[in-house]
Amino acid sequence: MSSSPLFAPLELRKGIIAKNRVWLAPLTNQQSHHDGTLGDDELAFLAARAEGGFGLIETCAAYVANDGKAWPGELGVHDNAMGPGLTRLAARMHEAGALAQVQLFHGGLRAVPEVSGQPAWSASAYSDATLSARAATNDDIASVIDAFAAAAQAAPVRASIRSNCTVPMAICFRSFSPLRTISAPTNGVVASPIAHA
Ligand SMILES: Cc1cc2nc3c(=O)[nH]c(=O)nc-3n(C[C@H](O)[C@H](O)[C@H](O)COP(=O)(O)O)c2cc1C
Repeated sequence: MSSSPLFAPLELRKGIIAKNRVWLAPLTNQQSHHDGTLGDDELAFLAARAEGGFGLIETCAAYVANDGKAWPGELGVHDNAMGPGLTRLAARMHEAGALAQVQLFHGGLRAVPEVSGQPAWSASAYSDATLSARAATNDDIASVIDAFAAAAQAAPVRASIRSNCTVPMAICFRSFSPLRTISAPTNGVVASPIAHA
C-alpha cells in the first residue's frame, strides 16, 4: 500500500470519512432516462468507478429544474420521482466503499430548449451563433434558488443523509459556464452529499 497522502482517509465535516482523497470528478455521460430517472448504464458506470477504489463518487451535473436541463439522458434531481433511483445509486456507491455526492445543476444559458421543452434563460439576455437566452426575471431567480434548495433537501438526498451530514458542499462549476456569467446563480452548481452511511 502506498504511503502517499492521496490514499490516506480524509475526515469531512461531522465525522464523515472518505477512505482516500482520490475522488471522481463529475462526468456527464447522458445515460439516464428521458424523464431524469437513473439509468442502469449510468449506475453501472459509477459503480465501476466506486469498485475501482475512488473514495468519493460525484455524479454528473444533475438538473434541479426542468428549465435547466441541458442534455438528453441527464440525471434529474428535480422531482420526488427521482428518489428511488438516487437511493439505489447511493446504496451502490456505499456497498463499494465510496461516499456519494450529487452535482446539483441548472443549465442557465446552456440549458437546451429542445431538451427541456422550455426557453433558456440566464442572468442577462444573450445571443450568439449557437446559444441564446432571455434575461432572468426576479421570479426565475427566486424559483431557481428554491429549486436548488429543494433538490438539496429532497428525498433521498436529505432523507438518506444521516443527521450528521446535512451541509451541501459548494463547488465552482466552470466547465460549462461562459466566463461572462460564471458567478450567476443560474450557472452555479452545488454538490450535495447523498446517503452517507
Ligand atoms: C465527458 C466529460 C463530461 C464532463 N461532465 C461534467 C459535469 O457533468 N460537470 C462538471 O462540473 N464537469 C464535467 N466535466 C469536467 C470534468 O469533471 C473535469 O473537471 C475536467 O475533465 C477537467 O479535469 P482535469 O482537471 O482533471 O483535467 C466533464 C468532462 C468530460 C470530459
